[in-house]
Amino acid sequence: MKVGILTGGGDCPGLNAVIRAVAKSLMVDCGAEIVGFEEGFLGLIERRSMPLSYRDVSGILAEGGTILGTHNKANPTSFYGADGADVSDQVFEYYQELGLDGIVVLGGDGTMSICHEMSKKGMRFIGVPKTIDNDLMQTDRTFGFDTAVAIATDGIDRLQTTGQSHGRVMILETMGRYTGWLALYAGIAGGADVILIPEIPYDINEIARVCEARAKRQRFTIIAVAEGARAKEGSLTVREVVEGSPDPLRLGGVGNVLKQQLEGLINQEIRTTVLGHIQRGGSPSPFDRILATQFGCYAGALAAQGKWGRMVALQDNKLTSVKLEHVANQTRYVKPDSMAVTSAMAIGASFGDPDLKLPLAHLGDLVPAV
Ligand code: F6P
Repeated sequence: MKVGILTGGGDCPGLNAVIRAVAKSLMVDCGAEIVGFEEGFLGLIERRSMPLSYRDVSGILAEGGTILGTHNKANPTSFYGADGADVSDQVFEYYQELGLDGIVVLGGDGTMSICHEMSKKGMRFIGVPKTIDNDLMQTDRTFGFDTAVAIATDGIDRLQTTGQSHGRVMILETMGRYTGWLALYAGIAGGADVILIPEIPYDINEIARVCEARAKRQRFTIIAVAEGARAKEGSLTVREVVEGSPDPLRLGGVGNVLKQQLEGLINQEIRTTVLGHIQRGGSPSPFDRILATQFGCYAGALAAQGKWGRMVALQDNKLTSVKLEHVANQTRYVKPDSMAVTSAMAIGASFGDPDLKLPLAHLGDLVPAV
């Protein structure tokens, strides 16, 4: 067997752990040759690949980033380096020249969508769901998410002590693109008082009410806000537009927008912290190392069995695989009536929506109003 590996889109903790697992399991089990592509699909377009030895993929389990490099703009069906031209035929030629059985691709929804498109040319892929956003369809988890939640939770813990000391409103902005998984999970883990996610647009007056009420009792308020969150009548806060990217919008800055919106409505001082790429860097958590290892070995097993055109997934705590076409061009959102949101509300967190009423929150006196 000869199998390629590439890492596409933004990096995240656990990429190297997956590369190691795919490569080692296929080398040991099938004596497979492994080829690594540099910088995601850019390596396929620019014919940059290298053989990976057992030694190359050893000792990288705990390393952040990706030994292969990655790229979040290189789409062969409309390549920015060729004025948006379709270079997929050249990519297919290179793939055939290399004599690959297929490629294991570690990526998010943009990368899975590219794989789905390129599959139509005859290329064979197995996807492994990567992203700190946890927003890929058909899988309950993506690797990298647990590490990012831990980093953001640590951020909330730290903001709590300084916010408490000064009696301030402390805002922590997390990443997550158009979904609120990261802010929600870190918000619950860190005990945030207000959690703002894109799936539940907020009412600024409700947030001000919560802050004022807390100012009288606990003096401080912690707000976890997802970068994609927005006011009910508001719009997304866009940091920059990256031309040529499958999703050109880069979000960011809503924490500062929120601060401005709150100033004038409350008397307390407000501080905003934007965690940014710190959430994506560094060593994967033990959970992500284990998940990445299992995902990688499962991808190896699928390749060995010739089950291409699928993405590894975790569903109800079991490893499985789903068709790439069922993942491509889709986003998995937080359900506003999910157990996570409901339990956060039940212990008094606000989602900034006075109209949001959930069953547990109706447990009357057991759930104190914030
Ligand atoms: O998808 C992962 C992610 O980190 C998002 O949470 C964030 O919006 C985006 O990537 C940032 O992208 P870039 O690295 O291009 O700034």
